[in-house]
Amino acid sequence: MAAGPTTSTASTDTSMELCADPAALTAWSDAHRVSGRRVALVPTMGALHSGHMALVDEARRHADVVAVSIFVNPLQFNQPDDFTAYPRPIDDDLAICGAHAVDAVYAPVAATMYPPGFQTHVEPGTLGDVLEGAQRPGHFRGVTTVVAKLFHAARPHVAVFGQKDFQQLAIIRRMVIDLDMGIDIVGMPTVREADGLAMSSRNRRLDAAQRRAAACVPASLDAVRAAYAMGERRADRLIALGRAVVEQELLARFEHLELVDADTLQPVTVADEHTVAVTAVWFDEVRLIDNVRVA
Ligand code: PAJ
Repeated sequence: MAAGPTTSTASTDTSMELCADPAALTAWSDAHRVSGRRVALVPTMGALHSGHMALVDEARRHADVVAVSIFVNPLQFNQPDDFTAYPRPIDDDLAICGAHAVDAVYAPVAATMYPPGFQTHVEPGTLGDVLEGAQRPGHFRGVTTVVAKLFHAARPHVAVFGQKDFQQLAIIRRMVIDLDMGIDIVGMPTVREADGLAMSSRNRRLDAAQRRAAACVPASLDAVRAAYAMGERRADRLIALGRAVVEQELLARFEHLELVDADTLQPVTVADEHTVAVTAVWFDEVRLIDNVRVA
């Protein structure tokens, strides 16, 4: 299961608080709240990269102290192999957090997050049924459940999420409104590699040839944007253009490319400035997702 520290609270030499259970995180947060400081939370599954750290930097602009959670959440993996293969470089992650002056890291083990008898879940609505939710049954229920638990333990004023997981961001914004959580949700643009590939912990699982081939994912979205900029508005035409880019790449296996409304996530037949192109592409056993606004 997920790696994590065994003590409930410990300090590192950078004075970063290391919390292994929810009570330790709540105590840390409460101490800052009573002193009038704003608390931010950046939820992650670790294997931290520059995309994650952009969220941390943004969090610092909205709060006085920043907590990062690192937890590979079994509830949101619909394929056991994907869960097992998910990278867990906890020592590197702690060093990266220390270098970014993160104030607290919450890294519970799975048995702490989901003790025996655990049975209460947060059920997303129809936003969770489409796109990723249709491909990965139960995925968003796992996300909303763990994020609700993280919010309750960390009691943040603000939490920062990436637009890379565009549907996840929409579902969390909805959850915070629907359940009166009173937390500001900040969305951050996707951080990309030099060839346009969105940074992702799963990129580590690509071999060198797959990694080169993966540039076809942003390239297909660029093709959609370029055609939109040239005046094409028909969704089926835009999708066909983007799909063709992926299908030219031998190592890539196209899964889906859809044009949806940014708010409802419902498919559109005619694109406009509220349209988002959303895609998923496989490289052997590794599934990569990406999205862009068409305008
Ligand atoms: P994870 O995939 O680790 O991502 C953590 C956060 O980093 C998410 O908000 C995600 O959108 C953001 N992120 C990932 N790659 C990014 C990139 N290239 N640029 C900008 N932001 C990026 O998303 C999850 O974990 C989990 O579902 C979680 C919310 C932690 C719940 O388990």
